[in-house]
Amino acid sequence: MDHNKMLTINKDGWEKSAERFFGRTALPEYGPFSLTEEQLKLFGSISGKKVLDIGCGSGHSLQYMSNNGATELWGIDLSSKQINTASKLLGNQHNNVKLFESPMEVNPGLPSSYFDIVYSIYAFGWTVDLNSTLANINSYLKPGGTFIFSWEHPFHDRIKFENGSFIVKRSYLEEGPEFNEAWHNEVIIYHRKLSTYINSLIDSNFIIEKVIDEVAIPHTPSENPSRWYSTQKASLIPATFIIKASKKNKEC
Ligand SMILES: C[S@@+](CC[C@H](N)C(=O)[O-])C[C@H]1O[C@@H](n2cnc3c(N)ncnc32)[C@H](O)[C@@H]1O
Repeated sequence: MDHNKMLTINKDGWEKSAERFFGRTALPEYGPFSLTEEQLKLFGSISGKKVLDIGCGSGHSLQYMSNNGATELWGIDLSSKQINTASKLLGNQHNNVKLFESPMEVNPGLPSSYFDIVYSIYAFGWTVDLNSTLANINSYLKPGGTFIFSWEHPFHDRIKFENGSFIVKRSYLEEGPEFNEAWHNEVIIYHRKLSTYINSLIDSNFIIEKVIDEVAIPHTPSENPSRWYSTQKASLIPATFIIKASKKNKEC
């Protein structure tokens, strides 16, 4: 299936389900069972920075950026419902907010070598074309600029709770587009190994600063281990991973 067809399927899926996710995975959270930005402090000082959110969803992470002093808030998202919600939340009347309804695989007219920080909270892994998305992100950043993203750990959907035990249902090693079970097979998500994300960043002119797959287990455990995200599962394998990288300076 070609990339455009996959994007059409995913856009339809997101237009139907956007409400379920409004503000659900947003900074300072990175994702299920992950440490938070308040604990990790990956961004450092945000004050005075120009930031771009890839897959900005309902705009709650951009709101966090604004609350922490970012001077320009830019966001891109595939879904018109998400962009409309973000626009209401952030107040598009301010000229420091610029939102684009577009797939991240395409540059909708974003400036190059402009942003101090590009980030993506639980959205980057939706890309159907990792290399062109990374090339875009690299071009948006100033040399030395920061790229941080979080995504579901690629072990996570390989393992399922069945008949009282966690079992490996699919190979971690097989990569490619898959209709996603958690979404009742209405969307397509590429399965990629962790090493594929890391090596693609390196090949796209980034320096890896940090890889995090630490797990934070809440005090009140979830009761049903067969839920997509459960404490029982998170105590065996991470649900979320985070990578911090920076754009190489030309002379590196
Ligand atoms: C879990 S939500 C992200 C939440 C958001 N980052 C936040 O901080 O509130 C994932 C988002 O990715 C968007 N998305 C999915 N595929 C995309 C693509 N190819 N290009 C751009 N956005 C995409 C969806 O529309 C959705 O808004």
